[in-house]
Amino acid sequence: MTDPLRILGIETSCDETAAAIVLRHPDGRGEIVSDVVLSQLDEHSAYGGVVPEIAARAHVEALDTLIEEALARANLSLADVDAIAATAGPGLIGGLLVGLMTAKAMARAADKPLYAVNHLEGHALTARLTDGLSFPYLMLLVSGGHTQLILVRGVGDYQRWGTTIDDALGEAFDKTAKLLGLPYPGGPAVERAALSGDADRFSFPRPLVGEARLDFSFSGLKTAVRQTATGLQPLKTQDVSDICASFQKAVSRTLKDRIGRGLQRFRDLYPAIEKPSLVVAGGVAANKVLRQTLHDLCAANNFTFVAPPMRLCTDNAAMIAWAGLERLAEGLPADDLATAPRSRWPLDPEAAAKIGSGKRGVKA
Ligand code: KG4
Ligand code: ZN
Repeated sequence: MTDPLRILGIETSCDETAAAIVLRHPDGRGEIVSDVVLSQLDEHSAYGGVVPEIAARAHVEALDTLIEEALARANLSLADVDAIAATAGPGLIGGLLVGLMTAKAMARAADKPLYAVNHLEGHALTARLTDGLSFPYLMLLVSGGHTQLILVRGVGDYQRWGTTIDDALGEAFDKTAKLLGLPYPGGPAVERAALSGDADRFSFPRPLVGEARLDFSFSGLKTAVRQTATGLQPLKTQDVSDICASFQKAVSRTLKDRIGRGLQRFRDLYPAIEKPSLVVAGGVAANKVLRQTLHDLCAANNFTFVAPPMRLCTDNAAMIAWAGLERLAEGLPADDLATAPRSRWPLDPEAAAKIGSGKRGVKA
């Protein structure tokens, strides 16, 4: 029997420092042997968002130890791995530099191939690691920095069908929380407050609903929340709950319309695939109301709804390692040690940049 391929993955594009060892067995099955993540949440929460300088410094301080720990937990030394994969973009340039330079130095010292991975590709291919999904499938990435609907056709072969033209969905949750006086990160706080709220008290806008294109827009929704909150000052706890519940309802309806159209487009394109898959990833995928919406939408359209475990939906190094392994296994060339990190790096080079999309350029 042949040995599995082994790879070390490194992720430093935003506020999580992470390292992982992942295997790819000869039958194509993936196995996460170690996966360590250090969240910087505490360091940024006082500022209500990620501070690039603090993030870069925290990556420098933590990364070496995390890599050692990932190797030790896997009972391997650097000499035992077949390659090193590191996130090269998109994300915060300071953090990307830390991870990629470390990976380059290790690749040089141990004479291993280096794979410079697109962070979005890591998210896009995770479902093949966790669920062994075959191509093609549809992926919805909903995080603090991205809201994208992507057709995943193969390794390195992506078509972006829709993206936000202003705020990312996670950003809309965070901003809504902030203007209601709820803590950062806003998503979980809004979801919690919404539990005791009346989702029908306010009718918030559902931008782009009914339009044929598959893009998203959330800034109008946020503005409507602000106007409502201003009109109700001083806000009572019940007002906050009702606004949160109504906000989630508007988001739910918007996703149902937008993603529903995406599923239809997939069917038209691949009529022979009887039960295709929709994969969801990103921190917003933790939201139970939105999860239920997507689950029901898939059931109604005879799609399989695939949600990898939350730990792998949010930022981690196992997905970066796996993206490197997919390229290694396909015999795709490794990257040059001169490869530079890129704060912007669309998965689909054909897709036109949308005004405002990923404007923070920080989170994916
Ligand atoms: O993927 P992620 O952990 O980090 C990056 O953006 O890279 O996503 C974080 C985002 C934040 O905007 C956070 O508010 C949102 O995901 N989020 C949620 C929930 N949990 C986290 N949004 C809605 N509902 C949640 N339960
Ligand atoms: Zn991400």
